[in-house]
Amino acid sequence: MAAAAAILRQGGTVIIPTETVYGLAANALDPVAVAKIFAAKGRPADNPLIVHIAATDQLAPLVRAVPPVLPLLAEHFWPGPLTLVLPRAPLVPDITAAGMDTVAVRLPQNPVARAIITAAGVPLAAPSANRSGIPSPTTFAHCLADMDGRVDAIVQSAPCAVGLESTVLSLAGAVPRLLRPGAVTLEQLRAVLGTVEVDEGVTHHLADNQPVSSPGMKYRHYAPKAELLLLVGSTQAYCDYLTQNARVGDFALCFTEDLPQLTLPALCYGGRQDHAAQAERLFGLLRELDDRGALRGFVHAPSTEGVGLAVYNRLLRAAAFQLLEL
Ligand code: TXA
Ligand code: MG
Repeated sequence: MAAAAAILRQGGTVIIPTETVYGLAANALDPVAVAKIFAAKGRPADNPLIVHIAATDQLAPLVRAVPPVLPLLAEHFWPGPLTLVLPRAPLVPDITAAGMDTVAVRLPQNPVARAIITAAGVPLAAPSANRSGIPSPTTFAHCLADMDGRVDAIVQSAPCAVGLESTVLSLAGAVPRLLRPGAVTLEQLRAVLGTVEVDEGVTHHLADNQPVSSPGMKYRHYAPKAELLLLVGSTQAYCDYLTQNARVGDFALCFTEDLPQLTLPALCYGGRQDHAAQAERLFGLLRELDDRGALRGFVHAPSTEGVGLAVYNRLLRAAAFQLLEL
């Protein structure tokens, strides 16, 4: 951790574990260091980064004003998988925020992440450590496969407990707005804040000419090489559809309950109601589809309650919005 912090202080890049996914970190306040993140990922310059802090009092210098609701949100959800979008202070360089007048800030829970941020002594910009467009890394092996030779160091740590990226909530407008669902759920946010709007991009494909609240929404995401189709329906309907339609090269990405009835190769991503397991396994299994040479993947779509909304949101993008109601 001390070695990682030293590299970061000197303007280098280090992949660090967090509780959500591994992040590709650099000093958020150093434009030259942040440019290395964009280069290593092949990330479009108009997609802003999340700034990671290790204590709540590190927020104030990054934003123009700390919102009155911050203590309440921090009490419930920080440290943890919640990112807040707030008006940006001049201290945060343009490149970090991709020129936006807001900045996204998160206080992660993972103790290794926090120890490295603290030892570095600066806030760390860190997008997910995948190459742009493919699923975020949730294990050290994923990071090595994607980024060996493209960063100064990779911290070897445990698989990520959550498995999907943080919830992104904008506090920049009059009403709090969910831009990306995650393990901090819409239901939990509404219980604390009252009204929370859900951005249309969370569950729908935005037309090319529609304005986006979060630039990350418009890019193809989380996509394996296999063509994915999301199937919405009961265990019976899902299994019947696959019995009738599966060809050589097809895989099922299914619930535990579906397994007994399936005859094609199947990867199970959790019990039907076990959204936490689905979140934890999803990205690893999307990579496994490619490793096993899948041509097409038929995904049993999760329900959208609780963490299910985050799983559904990532799958929709991985499937390029191809969805069939059975
Ligand atoms: O869990 C996470 O959030 C992980 C770990 C490493 O912390 N990081 C992560 O970063 O997922 P990234 O860059 O892969 O996703 C950040 C998302 C993008 O969709 C980006 O467009 C959005 O947050 N975002 C960042 N700054 C924003 C801003 N000022 N306004 C709106 N959206 C913003
Ligand atoms: Mg990402």
